[in-house]
Amino acid sequence: MQVRLAFAVSALVAAAPTLAATLGGNLGCGAPSLTSEDHAELQALSMFPSAVEAERGPVSIPVYWNTLTDNSGQGNLTASQIQEWMSVVNKGYAKTGFSFRLAGTRYLQDSAQFNTKGVDTAATVRLRDSLHVGNQRTLNIVTLNMLSAGYVGYATYPWVYRSEPRQDGVLIHYDLRPGSTDPNNNLGHVLIHEIGHWLGLLHVFSGSCDGDGDGVADTPPQKTLSRGCPTGKDSCPNRPGLDSIHNYLDYSDDVCLREFTPGQVARMKQFYGAYRA
Ligand SMILES: *[C@@H]1O[C@H](CO)[C@@H](O)[C@H](O)[C@H]1NC(C)=O
Repeated sequence: MQVRLAFAVSALVAAAPTLAATLGGNLGCGAPSLTSEDHAELQALSMFPSAVEAERGPVSIPVYWNTLTDNSGQGNLTASQIQEWMSVVNKGYAKTGFSFRLAGTRYLQDSAQFNTKGVDTAATVRLRDSLHVGNQRTLNIVTLNMLSAGYVGYATYPWVYRSEPRQDGVLIHYDLRPGSTDPNNNLGHVLIHEIGHWLGLLHVFSGSCDGDGDGVADTPPQKTLSRGCPTGKDSCPNRPGLDSIHNYLDYSDDVCLREFTPGQVARMKQFYGAYRA
């Protein structure tokens, strides 16, 4: 577990609380970088018959939503704010065959847990363990102050469920909700990104220009993450295709993020069939 939870974006970890309003635009999500074991899973997956997965009907995923707050009530999301965020997620996944329904919400007031110091600290591992409900089909979401850990969000990959079922799910900074104070991420799209990891997608900027990157054929090789909405960005000029700045699995501003590719949709279905069905 220690190896798996080494972070791809650890260089970005120093967060000053006073910059909280804008840090969402500078930090990354804490999706773990891939271990050799993860690569083996990805390779094994290419042996699954995609024709079978293509026939899979729509999948409705039950969501258990945990809202952490500090003792002053910071982080408190109203029921309608949670519903609004869920509907943003459903819009993002509208053409994928996946939909998400709120199966339960819970509130937990605990300043220390709210201001998490990392996603793999002993305290947070215990927290995730204690909150987890359901099985491999169930999406567990925890909203909290991720900026104190230096991230905007975090998700576990589907193949990790087998060995660490109670760590499965998504952590996300509470103030990246639709209408939040974050100037770059105020449409709720970071949650769409994190759920993409939970369904098995990698960042579109995974790997180098030469490798197979995120392992999805129709996302062009991309060397660097994107910020803002850099039209025309091409971090692998010697390879075909521009960077996927509008893809939910990049880091562009919310307003810029609007799509999954057909290859990513196929990949999510494949992963769901392999690990979550
Ligand atoms: C969160 O808000 C609700 C009202 O929406 C209130 O009843 C509750 O006490 C608040 N929780 C905290 C920790 O402030």
